[in-house]
Amino acid sequence: MSTPETASQEASAQAHQGNGAGGGQESLSVVDNRTGSSYEIPIENGTIRAPALREIKVSEDDFGLMSYDPAYLNTASCRSEITFLDGEAGVLEYRGYPIEQLAEQSSYLEVAYLLIFGELPTQSQLEGWIHEITIHTFVHENVKSFMQGFRYDAHPMGMLLASVGALSTFYPDANEIKDAGNRDLQTIRLIAKMPTLAAFSFRHSLGQPYVYPDNDLNYAGNFLGMIYKMTELKYEPDKRLERALDILFILHADHEQNCSTSAVRSVGSSQVDPYSAVAAGVAALYGPLHGGANEAVLRMLHRIGSKDKVGEFIAGVKEGDERLMGFGHRVYKNYDPRAKIIKKAVDDVFEVTGTNPLLEIALELEKIALEDDYFVSRKLYPNVDFYSGLIYEALGLPMSMFPVMFAIGRTSGWIAQWREMVDDSEQKIARPRQVYTGERERDYVPIDQR
Ligand code: CMC
Repeated sequence: MSTPETASQEASAQAHQGNGAGGGQESLSVVDNRTGSSYEIPIENGTIRAPALREIKVSEDDFGLMSYDPAYLNTASCRSEITFLDGEAGVLEYRGYPIEQLAEQSSYLEVAYLLIFGELPTQSQLEGWIHEITIHTFVHENVKSFMQGFRYDAHPMGMLLASVGALSTFYPDANEIKDAGNRDLQTIRLIAKMPTLAAFSFRHSLGQPYVYPDNDLNYAGNFLGMIYKMTELKYEPDKRLERALDILFILHADHEQNCSTSAVRSVGSSQVDPYSAVAAGVAALYGPLHGGANEAVLRMLHRIGSKDKVGEFIAGVKEGDERLMGFGHRVYKNYDPRAKIIKKAVDDVFEVTGTNPLLEIALELEKIALEDDYFVSRKLYPNVDFYSGLIYEALGLPMSMFPVMFAIGRTSGWIAQWREMVDDSEQKIARPRQVYTGERERDYVPIDQR
C-alpha cells in the first residue's frame, strides 16, 4: 500500500527538470522565470498531476509550487467511470448510456444498478436487486420514534439529514467499509430506506401518522403511497404519476463531481461509514445553490405572479438585483438535457393533476431569456431545477420537500461514487492545501493591554 509520503514522491518524480527544449506531445514544458529552470510535466487524460508542480522550487527548502483553485473550478479530484458530462454540448451519460434513453426506457432501480455495478442488469439480476431493495424498505421503530421528536414545523430536509446520519447508529457494522459484502448490504439499505425517511419527514410536517412501506408497490409507487395514503386499505398509485416520479429520480441519480457528491467523497475519504458520508451529501444538497434551487424557482414564479410581469422581472435580473433561478450551471453551457426531459414530463403530470398557472410564467421566462443577449452571452440555459418544482407542486408537495425529492434520486449516485472512491487505490483522505494570507509571529497581548 502506498503511504502519503511515497505517493507524493511518485507524483513529484513525474516532473523532470530539463533544459526546456520541449517534450513529447503528451507533456507540458514549463519555465520558472524566478530561477530560469525548466520542467517537463507529463500530460495524461488532458490533466497534469498537481503534485508534479511541487518539483518547481526556488530553493531546496522551498515547499514547491501549488495550484490555487477556489471552488475547484479546474481541478479533477478523481478518475471516474460513472457519469460522463459534456457541458458545452449538453450531453449526460450514465456508464455511457445517454440520459434520454434511460429516462425513456429504463426504471430508477435499473439505473441505480447500472450506476453502482457498471452494467445494465440481466432480467434475473434486476429481479434480485428489486427484491433486495424492496425487503429493506422498513426502518427500525426507534428511527420512527426519534423522528417524531422533531418540532412540528421541522424542515423535512433537516429531518432527512439527521435521520440518514442516525442510521449509522442502527448499523454499527457499516464502518467495515473494506468488506465488499458489507458495502453491498449498506448500499441496498440506503437506497431502500431513503424514500421511507423522506416520506416520514413529510408526514411529520403535516402532523399525520407515518405510513409504512407497501412492498407490493414499485419504488416510486411505494413512495407515493407513503406520502398520500390515508384511511384506504390499499393505496393504488396513478401509473402516470408513478412513471413521472421514476423519471425524476432517474434524472437526478448522478451528476458526477457536483457539490454534494464531492461532499460524500470528501467525508467518505476519512473512511467513515456510508450513512455518515451520505448525510454530508444531504447537507450539501440542502443549500439553495444546489438542491434548494427548485424551491427557489417556485418562490420566484409565485413572486412574479403573472406572465405580464416577466419582462420587469428579467430587467431586474439583468441589473443584478437577483438571479433567474433554475438558469445557469457550473458545467452546462448549453440546454441541460435533463431540463428537456422534465419539461416533457410536466405535461404528463398536468394531464392527471390539471395545469398550474405558474407553467405559463415559466415558459415565458424561458422564451425571453433564451432570446436575451444577457443570458445568451453568458450561456445561461434552463437547468434541471427549472421545471422539476412545477411537477413536485403538482404532486401536492410543499417546497420544503423539493430537495428531499432530489436526495432520494441522488442517493444511488452518491453510493456509486462512494464505492468507486473506496475501491480506488489512488484515493486517500481529502485534504486540500491553502494559501495562508493572515498575520504571522505575533506575541500574545494580555486582555487588559488590548
Ligand atoms: N441569473 C442571472 N445571472 C446569472 C445566473 C442566473 N441564474 N447564473 C449566473 N449568472 C451570471 C452571473 O451573474 C455572472 O455574470 P457576470 O459574468 O456578469 O458576473 C455569470 O452569469 C457567471 O456566473 P457564475 O456565478 O460565475 O457561475 P457559476 O458557475 O459560479 O454558478 C450557478 C453556477 C448554478 C450557481 C449559477 O448559475 C446560479 O446561481 N444559478 C441559479 C441557481 C440554480 O438554478 N442552481 C441550480 C443548479 S443545477 C442543480 C444542481 O446540479 O445542483
